[in-house]
Amino acid sequence: MNKKIIATGDKSKTLLIPELNETYHSSNGALNEALHVFRDAGLNYFTNNKPLSVFEMGFGTGLNALVSLDYANTHAIKINYTTIENTPIDIALIDELAYTNLFTGTNLKSDYRKLHLEPWNNSVRINKNFEFEKILGKIQEYIPNDHQKFDLIFYDAFGPRVQPELWTDTIMQQMYKMLNEGGILITYCAQGQFKRNLKSAGFTVENLPGPIGKREITRGIK
Ligand SMILES: C[S@@+](CC[C@H](N)C(=O)[O-])C[C@H]1O[C@@H](n2cnc3c(N)ncnc32)[C@H](O)[C@@H]1O
Repeated sequence: MNKKIIATGDKSKTLLIPELNETYHSSNGALNEALHVFRDAGLNYFTNNKPLSVFEMGFGTGLNALVSLDYANTHAIKINYTTIENTPIDIALIDELAYTNLFTGTNLKSDYRKLHLEPWNNSVRINKNFEFEKILGKIQEYIPNDHQKFDLIFYDAFGPRVQPELWTDTIMQQMYKMLNEGGILITYCAQGQFKRNLKSAGFTVENLPGPIGKREITRGIK
């Protein structure tokens, strides 16, 4: 599907799929959403400085991965980051988004490009704090490795309006199994049916204040 670059409320860019009228991030602020939801309510939930293993549903532009890489560098925390994507984005479009201009860390530009250019289905060490693997495929067909459990799931699919099949109780049961005890699933979505699916999968559900333009976001705790 065709993708168009648009500016969002905090001046960071995102991609719009005009046919679906769906954006990759909040039109009120792409960077602001990534920081508020996935960094502040996600990574920051764990306060003990222990290594974190993160699974992201929907690698897309890699903005959440970039936020996590920057977090690992600035907090000196080891992050093992696994992400899945079924429709990779061309690197020319990624370069146009210019996300690394929004950060000040050293080497972020080349490291972020590596996230995109490294082969799929292959674990790679980006630096001493950040280990990364992206899986090419659909979340519905993903078979998690029984030995690999995650502390944190970034659930960043397109919304239930356009992809209801990605917010079901079946998928939430799978997400629950992939987490360590005490692990969390964090998402920008606060739809009622989705939250009931999280509960029926076994999660304790928390409603948290959303970023600008959104009342609430959701955290599921195992
Ligand atoms: C809301 S976008 C978020 C992207 C990303 N987190 C970012 O920061 O750019 C959702 C992403 O999920 C991907 N996606 C859609 N359906 C999928 C599926 N069934 N399995 C894996 N990824 C999927 C889309 O291609 C898109 O990149």
